[in-house]
Amino acid sequence: MKGKFHTLYVGIFLLVGILSIIILIVNGLSYYPLPIEERVFSNLHSSLKPSGAIGHGIGIIGTLMMIIGVASYMIRKRMRRMFDWGYLKYWLEFHIFMCTVGPILVLFHTAFKFGGIVAVSFWSMVVVVLSGVVGRFIYIQIPRTIQGKEIGINELNETELVLTEQLQFEYNLNKEIIESISSSTQPLKYINMSLSMSMFTVIKEIFTFNSFLKHLKSELKKQGITDHNKHHKIIHITKQKMILSRRIGMLRTMQKLFRYWHIFHLPFAFSMFIIMLIHVGVTIAFGYRWLF
Ligand code: HEM
Ligand code: HEM
Repeated sequence: MKGKFHTLYVGIFLLVGILSIIILIVNGLSYYPLPIEERVFSNLHSSLKPSGAIGHGIGIIGTLMMIIGVASYMIRKRMRRMFDWGYLKYWLEFHIFMCTVGPILVLFHTAFKFGGIVAVSFWSMVVVVLSGVVGRFIYIQIPRTIQGKEIGINELNETELVLTEQLQFEYNLNKEIIESISSSTQPLKYINMSLSMSMFTVIKEIFTFNSFLKHLKSELKKQGITDHNKHHKIIHITKQKMILSRRIGMLRTMQKLFRYWHIFHLPFAFSMFIIMLIHVGVTIAFGYRWLF
């Protein structure tokens, strides 16, 4: 049930995100590509310009989405009283949804015209979103419980041992296959890698892991293991073991990288919000009140 609920939860985010983008594009297809000086002649100008009914509205909604997405995650993560309000992982997914769709709405609010001091806020927003994607990538390299707590190295080593034992005793794989799996899943080989090498290795291993698994599949067939279910489970456990070993080996590096990432991500989020506040103050002072 939990799995189904989660798929529905993420599915709704994806659907809303994709639908919003399609509606914004279709609605402004004949307006946004026009050169700035020709836009005033378009009958869409009065609603799609940044101060127009739609342009202004999506600026406000997009900004509110970012504020809610950041505040809710920060509060949920820190307030003891909220610790049992759903898994932190789901709140992070909510943060990512709000802080991806929000900036897209703000992009359409600007009508693709990035002038004045508020351009600094806009580009800070772009940097925060892009760095968010990198942050998410590093985040998932650090094994955590579903509650978002980091799992200790001893527990990780134990899980890895359990996987090896499963292959050895439950599926009775012979010594050669176990050795070939173990030699390609050595946490030690990742330990002294530099940060850039670690990032490169994670990407490179998407391909090397796949080719190893292909090789393993043909080895299993040679050994006479043809039962589809058993075959599938062995490949699944081996894949888990390979990923876990890499995460164990890179744990220290990724934790360090994640600390640096926070130092980079936060100031841009901060400068985006501060300049946005000045921008909102100035527009209100100039009498732009939207529907109010
Ligand atoms: C991070 C959030 C926001 C960003 C990055 C942003 C960015 C921009 C940009 C680039 C422009 C066009 C400037 C130009 O004409 O050269 C603009 C215009 C405008 N924005 Fe925003 N905006 C944001 C949020 C808001 C919010 C929340 C409001 C309202 C409460 C708002 C109200 C306006 C108005 C009224 C204009 C038109 C100003 C004019 O035509 O002189 N913006 N914004
Ligand atoms: C304008 C957009 C965004 C803003 C203003 C923003 C802001 C923030 C802030 C302030 C934090 C620190 C939270 C804390 O330490 O409690 C954070 C954490 C994080 N954000 Fe974003 N974010 C944005 C977009 C994104 C996107 C698009 C992604 C992913 C694709 C993302 C992924 C993350 C991750 C992985 C964390 C770390 C969570 C943790 O350490 O517990 N963010 N973000």
